[in-house]
Amino acid sequence: MYHVKTKNFDNSCLPFLNKIVNKNRPPDTADTLTLSPLSRHNNPIMSKNFWLKLKKPIFVLAPMANVTDAVFRRLIAKYGRPDAMFTEFVSCDGLQSVGHAKLLIDLQYTEAERPIVAQIFGSKPANFYKTAQLARELGFDGIDINMGCPEKNLVKSGSCAGLIRTPQLAQEIIRATQAGAQGLPVSVKTRIGFNKNEIETWIPALLAVEPAVLTVHGRTRKEMSLVPANWDVIARAVEIRNETKSKTLIFGNGDVRDLEDAAAKAKQYGVDGVMLGRAIFGNPWLFNREKKTPTIEERLHVLVKHTLLYEKILGGKKSFDLMKKHYKAYVSGWDGAKELRIELMTAKTAGEVEKIVVLYLKNNTNK
Ligand SMILES: Cc1cc2nc3c(=O)[nH]c(=O)nc-3n(C[C@H](O)[C@H](O)[C@H](O)COP(=O)(O)O)c2cc1C
Repeated sequence: MYHVKTKNFDNSCLPFLNKIVNKNRPPDTADTLTLSPLSRHNNPIMSKNFWLKLKKPIFVLAPMANVTDAVFRRLIAKYGRPDAMFTEFVSCDGLQSVGHAKLLIDLQYTEAERPIVAQIFGSKPANFYKTAQLARELGFDGIDINMGCPEKNLVKSGSCAGLIRTPQLAQEIIRATQAGAQGLPVSVKTRIGFNKNEIETWIPALLAVEPAVLTVHGRTRKEMSLVPANWDVIARAVEIRNETKSKTLIFGNGDVRDLEDAAAKAKQYGVDGVMLGRAIFGNPWLFNREKKTPTIEERLHVLVKHTLLYEKILGGKKSFDLMKKHYKAYVSGWDGAKELRIELMTAKTAGEVEKIVVLYLKNNTNK
């Protein structure tokens, strides 16, 4: 019996989480799992598939570790809700280990964020199976498998973008997740290849096991984020989907600036949806169709609110310094922004941040 026991976790959830975490722990011997392929005609995956209820083109918020955490997502849900959101990526191996309590922090969400999808990564089908069960019991609307993160150590361990090199294992992982998810939609986020464009083989391999959605980030693993995303290759992924008569939705991802750009790309490249990532930095209104460019004052108020909420919910659990990358984004683009930013970088508490901003606004009321 393992216990979620940490002073850093919201204690009100502990009995519930302990119950489900222990229920979902794999037996010590369960390091392999045999699963039969799902039949297209008897596919439980489609039964609770919220993706099919959304109006196309679908605009979703990208998972971004240490950025789109439970706190930022709450603000985004309030100021400009996308059609769906994803958690930061969470390790299946970690969730199935004794150290799982710490990782459960990354699976916190609020009702306002729905539909909310848990993004997971790993390389062991058995742990995906158990983690899918856990995600289902935690009430997630869907599960997404990370097959795109280019980070060296993760790739070396066979996870994330490393799975592009082992398509059979990738398929086994998708099937294991589908089996554990018991009807919740399972999606995949990936890149167009490992060292080179491989979509002619990689996309059909994924479509063969019927993920509900396939998000294609238009770069190879080797390209990291160093070159512009290739949307022509994303369009080819849509063609492959059409040629194979697959029902999987295809989303495009990479370098999308705003909703207008997303709508234009959906039209031009034929994707069912678009995923936006870095454009949300400093702009929780990104998905708000009514909102014109926010004023400096509005941005600074949200910066303070974001910081206070971060301290309240993640204080002591995650480093306060993670807020600093948000400050860079909130505070830029006007005369005097740099000086304010430098001052904010020295702050160590939400109270200090609030004081700095209040004083700044008092001295710069015309900004
Ligand atoms: C700080 C940061 C963290 C990221 N973390 C994740 C992650 O946890 N899971 C994932 O699938 N992709 C992650 N990504 C990749 C993004 O989801 C997205 O694919 C990438 O930023 C390209 O989209 P964009 O040009 O709209 O930002 C991350 C990207 C950034 C910049």
